[in-house]
Amino acid sequence: MPTFQVSNLQVDTLTEEQRAAVFQLQVQHCFGDVPGAEIEEDFFTEPVSRVLCYHEDELVGCAGTRVRPIQFEEQTVMLGGISGVCTQRDWRGQGVATQVCTAAMHFLAEAKCDVVFLSTSPMARRLYEKLGFRPVPRFSWENIHGQVKQGDNGMVAPICSREIAERIWQGEHSLHVGRGYW
Ligand SMILES: CC(C)(COP(=O)(O)OP(=O)(O)OC[C@H]1O[C@@H](n2cnc3c(N)ncnc32)[C@H](O)[C@@H]1OP(=O)(O)O)[C@@H](O)C(=O)NCCC(=O)NCCS
Repeated sequence: MPTFQVSNLQVDTLTEEQRAAVFQLQVQHCFGDVPGAEIEEDFFTEPVSRVLCYHEDELVGCAGTRVRPIQFEEQTVMLGGISGVCTQRDWRGQGVATQVCTAAMHFLAEAKCDVVFLSTSPMARRLYEKLGFRPVPRFSWENIHGQVKQGDNGMVAPICSREIAERIWQGEHSLHVGRGYW
């Protein structure tokens, strides 16, 4: 089994080289088919940190983290997020994304997030289930124009509050993740 170096870095500390490697990995290997208009209108917020996974000097996996207070059932909930989970094609199936998401969840625990939200692709669903995520029946976000949009591919896992995760999973009230999707 190869050895990977996984680190979590605040976005404002990333070097130009690291930023370029993330961009290249995401566009070339993972999200090149996402329409530009969707990126501009929905995915317009910056992550708090990026988890980078290197094999020797090659970036083989990455993800972003989010931390955002939201209102859910008239209560302030500290919502964590994981975004842009991506493993280079040649390195898939070797636990890279599992290590990256686990590191992201450790960071979100330190940031005292109650729960962590992400939107899944069909390909990644099993990965997230293994990490404790379960589907969210309904969620919404606000796009760059202030329009509220609905999604059906959201998943949530508990971090500091299993009780809040349970209530979100039940889906009696829609989860609104705020301004900007991830
Ligand atoms: C989804 C993705 C991130 C998985 O990365 P990875 O490094 O291969 O994942 P891991 O090796 O940690 O595998 C974790 C689990 O995912 C599942 N999995 C991994 N590769 C899979 C594949 N090709 N098909 C179906 N399930 C797969 C398995 O259940 C695996 O656990 P197991 O090996 O213990 O059975 C990667 O395939 C990818 O970059 N896909 C394109 C981008 C994408 O869809 N990102 C998710 C956006 S939300």
